[in-house]
Amino acid sequence: MDSYRVRDVESADRGRIAIEWAEIHMPVLMKLRKRFESDKALTGLQVGACLHVTKETAVLVETMALGGAKVALCGSNPLSTQDDVAAALARNGTNVFAWKGQTSDEYYGCIRNVLGFKPQITLDDGADLVSTIHKERTDLISGIIGGTEETTTGVVRLRAMARDQALKYPIVAVNDAQSKSLFDNPLGTGQSALDGIIRATNVLLAGKDIVVVGYGRVGSGIAERAKGHGARVTIVESNPINALRASMAGFRVMTMNEAAKCGDIIITATGDVNVVRKEHFHEMKDKTILANAGHFDVEISKPDLEEISVARRKLTACIDQYTLKNGCRLFLLAEGRLVNLGCAEGHPSEVMDLSFSIQLLSVEYLLRNKGKLLPTVIDVPREGDYEVARLKLQAMGAGLEELTEEQEHYLVSWEMGTE
Ligand SMILES: NC(=O)c1ccc[n+]([C@@H]2O[C@H](COP(=O)([O-])OP(=O)(O)OC[C@H]3O[C@@H](n4cnc5c(N)ncnc54)[C@H](O)[C@@H]3O)[C@@H](O)[C@H]2O)c1
Repeated sequence: MDSYRVRDVESADRGRIAIEWAEIHMPVLMKLRKRFESDKALTGLQVGACLHVTKETAVLVETMALGGAKVALCGSNPLSTQDDVAAALARNGTNVFAWKGQTSDEYYGCIRNVLGFKPQITLDDGADLVSTIHKERTDLISGIIGGTEETTTGVVRLRAMARDQALKYPIVAVNDAQSKSLFDNPLGTGQSALDGIIRATNVLLAGKDIVVVGYGRVGSGIAERAKGHGARVTIVESNPINALRASMAGFRVMTMNEAAKCGDIIITATGDVNVVRKEHFHEMKDKTILANAGHFDVEISKPDLEEISVARRKLTACIDQYTLKNGCRLFLLAEGRLVNLGCAEGHPSEVMDLSFSIQLLSVEYLLRNKGKLLPTVIDVPREGDYEVARLKLQAMGAGLEELTEEQEHYLVSWEMGTE
C-alpha cells in the first residue's frame, strides 16, 4: 500500500515553513499539543481524515501524531490542497494522499486510500469520507469509535443520514460548537473569500456592487467585510428572519432575479443547489464575476453556464471566462468551488486555532465515551466549547469576568423580582 501520494515531495521545506508559521498563530492548539504529547492519550489510534490539506490542518494532524495517533489524510476538495504542506506532512511520516487540481476520480481514489488504513476515528469536512464508508466500506464500521464533522453542509448531510437511520456510528458536529461557527464561518470565510477574489482578480472592491447569496453564518461575514471594503452590498435570502436581519443591518435585500442584474461580483454562501442558474446568467451584466464560498461546487450551476455559453476560455488557473450569445462575458472563479481555498489559503490560522482545538477535544471526547454513544449526530459538550474560548482569551491577553456566588445563584433563581 502506498504510504503517501503528493505532487512533489521536494517542496517539503517550503511547506514546513508554512506549518511553522501556522503554529505561531495557533496558541490554543499548541497548548493542547503539550498536554496530548505528554499524556499520549491517542497512542495506537488510527485516524482517517478528509480535511482541506492546509498548513493549519497540518498543525492538527501533527498534534494528533505527537499524541500517539497514526493519521491518514486526504483532501476534502479537489482544489484546496496546499501541495508544499502535503509534501512536508509526507516527509514527516503522515500518510497523506492529496494534491491540488484533482479529478473527481482521483479525489475519491484518495478517500479510498485513507480508508485502506482502517480508521477508528474519522475527521470529515463535508461528509464525503463518512458517506463513502457507508456506501462502499461497511466492513469498517464495527471498528470505528466515532467521527467529527467540520462544516455546515457535512452536518446537514449527517443529520439527514441519522434521520433515515442510515448513520451507523456517532459523529460530533464540530461545526455547531459556538467557538467554531460564531468565528470560523463569518470571520474566517468572510476574510478569506474576499482574499480569494482579490488574489484571483485584483479588482477594486470599493464602489462595486457585490451580491451575497445566503445571509447565514458565512454570508453575513462576507457581506460585512465587503461593506468594509466600500462595496454596495445586496443580499439574496430565502429565510425571512435572515433576510430581515440583513435588511436591518443596512443591506439591500432582493430576489436573485433582481440581484443578478446589478451585481459586479456575485458570491454564493448557501449550502444549496443551483441558486444561481440559467435565468439569472441571462440577466447579468458584462464582466460579472461569479464566486462560491459554500461547500460544494453546485451553488452556481456549471451545467447551465456550459449550456448557454458560445465560448469558454481559461484565463488563469483561477478564472474561467464564459461568453454568452449576447456577448456578455461571465468570469467564474475556482471552477465554482470554494473560492477561499481554490484561489487563496483558506481561513487565517487564528480562526482555525479555535475550530481545530474543538476537533481535538472532540476526538478525546469520543475516546472517553467509546461504546457509550448512539450512532447519531452529537453536539460538542459545552465544557469543551468554553475551554477553547477561555484558552483563546488567555492567549489574546483578554480578561474574563468571574461571577460572584451571589450572581451565579441569582441567574438561576426566580424568587427575587421587583423590590
Ligand atoms: N468556504 C469555507 O471555508 C466555508 C466555511 C464554513 C462553511 N462553509 C459552507 O458555507 C455554506 C453556508 O454555511 P453557513 O454556516 O453560513 O450555513 P447557514 O445555514 O448558517 O446559512 C445558509 C443560508 O443560506 C440561505 N439559503 C439557502 N438556500 C438559499 C437560496 N436558494 N437562496 C438564498 N438563500 C438561501 C439559508 O436560508 C441560510 O440563511 C455551507 O455549504 C458550509 O458548509 C464554507
